[in-house]
Amino acid sequence: MLLTCHNLTKSYQLGGERVEVLRGIDLNLSRGDFLAVMGASGSGKSTLLHILGLLATPDGGEYFLNDQNMAVLDDDGRSRLRASAIGFVFQTFNLLPELSVWENVALPFLYRAVASDEAAARVERAVARVGLTKRLRHRPGQLSGGEMQRVAIARALAIEPLLILADEPTGNLDSKTGEGILSLFLELNAAGASIVMVTHDRRVAARVGSIIEMSDGRARAGTV
Ligand SMILES: Nc1ncnc2c1ncn2[C@@H]1O[C@H](COP(=O)(O)OP(=O)(O)O)[C@@H](O)[C@H]1O
Ligand SMILES: [Mg+2]
Repeated sequence: MLLTCHNLTKSYQLGGERVEVLRGIDLNLSRGDFLAVMGASGSGKSTLLHILGLLATPDGGEYFLNDQNMAVLDDDGRSRLRASAIGFVFQTFNLLPELSVWENVALPFLYRAVASDEAAARVERAVARVGLTKRLRHRPGQLSGGEMQRVAIARALAIEPLLILADEPTGNLDSKTGEGILSLFLELNAAGASIVMVTHDRRVAARVGSIIEMSDGRARAGTV
């Protein structure tokens, strides 16, 4: 298994009230799987993705990534593993507007000890993979939404991650552009990438390996 979760729980304190967002999530992902996460707004999809991506810690339960127990890592260990193993793609792209495409994709290497020649080669490979080699010197503001998301995907790919996590990556795109981004994820998966994608689109979910549906803090196997 690439990833195993058992009985993950998470709650937030909001004012005086405790909101139980995850009430016991079990999840297994093998290398090369493509899992779609569905569920209503507020059902905890992003919270789950943040835990899987080591951006947040669960209150309880177990999370093993690549057979390593995440509970033993401190903040530093989590940051280091995240920087080397996890590629995150967000709905809002999260590119830095003042940096070029090349610089945005190279950002993960600021936090990671990869020799600069190797880093440059990986950046160029990743940008080529998403079809934007001709845009290396452009800034995000000079690109369309779909192109910006391709840059974000290249940034996720550049580290050659163990796991790609995408939180509604087509949510800010028109349906035709979103279709192109989905095709790219499907190609990456066909080439071996392991992907967990939050999406509201049942047509998307229908084309990936498996689906879970979140509700009441739990995940159940979904059907299209
Ligand atoms: N940092 C936070 N502090 C307090 N409440 C939060 C925080 N993050 C999320 N929540 C709450 O947790 C619930 C689930 O949020 P989220 O995981 O973002 O759901 P989804 O991505 O499915 O829309 C929501 O009710 C949200 O308001
Ligand atoms: Mg969300």
